[in-house]
Amino acid sequence: MERLDKIIASQTEYSRKDVKYLALNKKLTVNGEIVRRSDIKVDPEKDEIAINGKPMLVKKYVYLILNKPEGYISATEDKSQATVLELIPEEFKCRDVFPVGRLDKDTTGLMILSDDGEFAHNILAPKKHVEKEYEVTVDIKVTEEMKQGFLEGVDLNDGVCKTAILEITGDYTANVTLTEGRYHQIKRMFGCFGAKVVKLHRTRMGKLVLPNDLEVGDSRELTEEEIKLLTTR
Ligand code: URA
Repeated sequence: MERLDKIIASQTEYSRKDVKYLALNKKLTVNGEIVRRSDIKVDPEKDEIAINGKPMLVKKYVYLILNKPEGYISATEDKSQATVLELIPEEFKCRDVFPVGRLDKDTTGLMILSDDGEFAHNILAPKKHVEKEYEVTVDIKVTEEMKQGFLEGVDLNDGVCKTAILEITGDYTANVTLTEGRYHQIKRMFGCFGAKVVKLHRTRMGKLVLPNDLEVGDSRELTEEEIKLLTTR
């Protein structure tokens, strides 16, 4: 059981104070009965809460997929730069949604946002071995030496040696698969071979591939099946 005002404030744009006034003005019902107090306890899974006669769909957590465009930073707020949070559907902006793993400002592609911390941990923790795949374009030819080097592990100058799978797809292009993401990892790994990444696009997390019909800048809720695919190795 949880307080009614807490549930509503966490799921909608109404503040706890707003909820108090809604109750005083008989705008709130629980299972069809008008409630005059906003601090009563209800079961968010079972009780039907309605505001102004409109039933509220209570969701414990939100899981979103975004096709990230260039020019947005992976943060929840910033004084001067646009964040990926600006791109999510309006109805989820009142929730404490955060990016599940960062992409650089100029990196595009598959990004997951959620307010479920445990889920985020399951996707990001190196021990969970959830793969993240990227299409990369670099400014010099991709070589077998790079491929071998990625596999053996590249020293990123912070005391950690990182390995990755590099598949050569063209003279200047490759697919790179990581199971953990260090700061600027792909750019730094190519940097060790004198290559500069000119384009980076994430195409897959776990078994979830960026859907073709999700336009750049678009986002939507994940289906239950897609959520499962994300944590599948
Ligand atoms: N590696 C990078 O260098 N940048 C990203 O955005 C993701 C992985």
